Amino acid sequence: MKLRTLISAGAAAVGVVAYRDMTQKTHAIRRNFPVIGNFRYLLETIGPELRQYIVTSNEEERPFSRDERRWVYASAKGQNNYFGFGTDIDVEHIQGHTYIKHRAFPLEPPTPIDELASLPSAKVLGGPRNRVGAFRPGSVVNVSAMSFGSLSGAAIKALNLGAAKAGCLHNTGEGGISPYHRNGAELVLQMGTAYFGCRNDDGTFDLERLKDVVASAPVKAIEIKLSQGAKPGLGGMLPAAKITEEIAAIRGIPLDKDCISPPRHTAFHDVDSMLDFVELIATETGVPVGIKSAVGDLSFWLELAELMRTRTRGVDFITVDGGEGGTGAAPLIFTDSISLPFRMGFSRVYGAFAELGLADDVTFIGSAKVGLPENAVVAFALGADMVNVAREAMLSIGCIQSQKCHTDECPVGVATQNPWLVRGLDPLSKGDRCAAYLIQLRKELIRVSSAVGVGHPSHITPHDIEILNGDYESRTLTGLYGYKDHWGVPGADLGL
Ligand SMILES: Cc1cc2nc3c(=O)[nH]c(=O)nc-3n(C[C@H](O)[C@H](O)[C@H](O)COP(=O)(O)O)c2cc1C
Ligand code: SF4
Repeated sequence: MKLRTLISAGAAAVGVVAYRDMTQKTHAIRRNFPVIGNFRYLLETIGPELRQYIVTSNEEERPFSRDERRWVYASAKGQNNYFGFGTDIDVEHIQGHTYIKHRAFPLEPPTPIDELASLPSAKVLGGPRNRVGAFRPGSVVNVSAMSFGSLSGAAIKALNLGAAKAGCLHNTGEGGISPYHRNGAELVLQMGTAYFGCRNDDGTFDLERLKDVVASAPVKAIEIKLSQGAKPGLGGMLPAAKITEEIAAIRGIPLDKDCISPPRHTAFHDVDSMLDFVELIATETGVPVGIKSAVGDLSFWLELAELMRTRTRGVDFITVDGGEGGTGAAPLIFTDSISLPFRMGFSRVYGAFAELGLADDVTFIGSAKVGLPENAVVAFALGADMVNVAREAMLSIGCIQSQKCHTDECPVGVATQNPWLVRGLDPLSKGDRCAAYLIQLRKELIRVSSAVGVGHPSHITPHDIEILNGDYESRTLTGLYGYKDHWGVPGADLGL
């Protein structure tokens, strides 16, 4: 009898916990996995104590270490994101460790830093080519390309709400503009090789459709995607089974056929015709037009810079994606070994333009793990004007780095179309978290700039940063990447 009472009381308690978990909106894991989901939070709480006795350090785990994720999670939740007791990195021996050289007499950061930690771009996007829609982006930190399809509608909505609240641009990804992208944020419309949302039935580019799409939404710029760091030179395929009516309508594709994204564009075939295409689109839509690419063979970039020398045609911005960048799904050989890592790739592209005196003509955007303050600072020192954040923004809306994005089984509803799992992600509260993270990243950039004695991260120079070689010695970014004097910072007359 006693046992039966005990079992009933236990079952009732579990029922109460299950009900509480399923109806709360703060934690996707508990909403999707009632009762057992609580163990994840328990383990997270007592993890640091457990790790004193078992297993790994705070610097292990990839792509994002435990410390890096903890910083994003705490920033997104508006919690204490400081670390106590000092660094646990073996600072003199870690190869590739970054040192930022502060000044003995730092600049006073604005006190207080305003609520949004406002940090506009040093350059006017589209200004050098006099585009009708040229503008100075209000934030140097923006949300990177991720499509509806690879992410759930709820995740896209949360990112869009977050970007709107933080005053950032939201890149649509190559899947076109979905209703979830229309929640207030200004957009960068991405066009991949399949021209989703602006294509003819045979998959070729349709200018009139593009103009209609641009007119229908707050599109501030267009990004032509040549490749992305995690899978350069590789097309994509969305199997018919995964094509819902909603996705088919947004992308402009049939419901009953596998949807192929070819590995290269059909609207142009070389650098020269690409520049004609860029000018056509910029003229017809009025907005600045740029390209996104990973970096492999350098001849493309050298030719692009050379052809822009006459200043009669040109891209308004270049987004360089590093080989360490993220993806919804890609073969291992592509994620691990194809295309240069961000710092190497970016510095080579920047150098191609700086060598010809064209660095101020282009807004340079960096992506691949630059949503962490240290990496972002290095990107700015190398000459990036803005950074795009993808997976870090996913972490801010609940991603737990389970790396199942390719399976449609994302446990927190971020990278899945499974309605039960998506239900766990509450776009409103997660949108607030995304905004808090984006603002916090800007705040750290303002603080670090002040410590280095400058008022804006674009003024941090490659001399200001050294990279350790793992054996007590270090080299400046200038030496490491062959930068010349005055490279890496925008010209004095850009109005900062
Ligand atoms: C789930 C997912 C989907 C992505 N979709 C696109 C896409 O549609 N177009 C694109 O250019 N890049 C795409 N990317 C790459 C990101 O925009 C970004 O370049 C890359 O992840 C590096 O940034 P990160 O290190 O901040 O994640 C995607 C990345 C992820 C993780
Ligand atoms: S599957 Fe894992 S890594 Fe991918 S978004 Fe979901 S939680 Fe993050």
